[in-house]
Amino acid sequence: MSEEKNQFTHYDAINWNKVIDPIDKATWEKLTEQFWLDTRIPISNDLKDWRSLGKKEHRLYDHVFGGLTMLDTLQSQDGMASLLEAAVTPHERAVLNNIKFMESVHAKSYSSIFETLDTPVEIDEIFDWASQNKRLQYKANKINSIYHDPNPLKRKIASVFLETFLFYSGFYTPLYFAGHNKMVNVAEIIKLIIRDESVHGTYIGYKFQVAYKKLTEKEQQDLTAWAYDLLYDLYANEEAYTHELYDDIDWFDDVMVFLRYNGNKALMNLGLEPMFADGAEDVNPVVMNGISTSTANHDFFSQVGNGYRLGEVENLTDSDYEVGKSTQSGFDSEDQD
Ligand SMILES: [Fe+2]
Ligand SMILES: [Fe+2]
Repeated sequence: MSEEKNQFTHYDAINWNKVIDPIDKATWEKLTEQFWLDTRIPISNDLKDWRSLGKKEHRLYDHVFGGLTMLDTLQSQDGMASLLEAAVTPHERAVLNNIKFMESVHAKSYSSIFETLDTPVEIDEIFDWASQNKRLQYKANKINSIYHDPNPLKRKIASVFLETFLFYSGFYTPLYFAGHNKMVNVAEIIKLIIRDESVHGTYIGYKFQVAYKKLTEKEQQDLTAWAYDLLYDLYANEEAYTHELYDDIDWFDDVMVFLRYNGNKALMNLGLEPMFADGAEDVNPVVMNGISTSTANHDFFSQVGNGYRLGEVENLTDSDYEVGKSTQSGFDSEDQD
């Protein structure tokens, strides 16, 4: 009898009525509330705008979206597998399962856009370009190698840098055109992706901070130095990538300001000090306008609903995580704008 018992290991059912970390439940609620699918956005309504754009703009859109498809593919595959492996609560695992699926939705969205705007030959060119572009391959491989690093904190840093920093060289194009009231349905998809990424980056950054606090001072210093080195490395690559994409259209300098602004936000998500001098006020207002007309909400901890509020660059404090202390499910007290 006892021999038979030994063949079985202990397995726990997930109990959502006994949540270990209220942030898990609050994030689950936030993410499921903002669930969306690419098929609900009428991309073909942008065809008139698309035809009014020149070859240079078409190529720019195609390539930035090719690059974004690559990064969302990486997130949906190795990225979430890597974070799931290090999850500390069953509820965190459930949240990461949600994120994993949404990363697949994000990656698929670009194919829906290509299908609507591009010919089959053009679509093949986009994927060939993505598989051969050295800068894109560099960042995907760099991040992916960290996803296979034994240190789970390094994996979280890589994920936050991908989601809160690396995406933005691509997001710039649709946001810029949306700011000029062009290609607004395509931009709506991008804004929905940005809204998701905002929650992902904040949540994974929070999980990082919880684990980081348990390290010794020396370990914290070493990890912080490693994070800054990684961001410098990715930034240098991003600079070259931005030259390749934007020199033709002469937007390089503006895009770099936007990247530095988002690089700071990535560091803030990890609880680290900003590295660049650029703030929101330095970013091209047309691009900020492109974000701000969204029905999405970029600021994870402020509220839900149709109004959009710009994410402010500031450190999260302990009080930001006090959701659920009085209400059990987070956001309840803050949900009304
Ligand atoms: Fe994504
Ligand atoms: Fe994400």
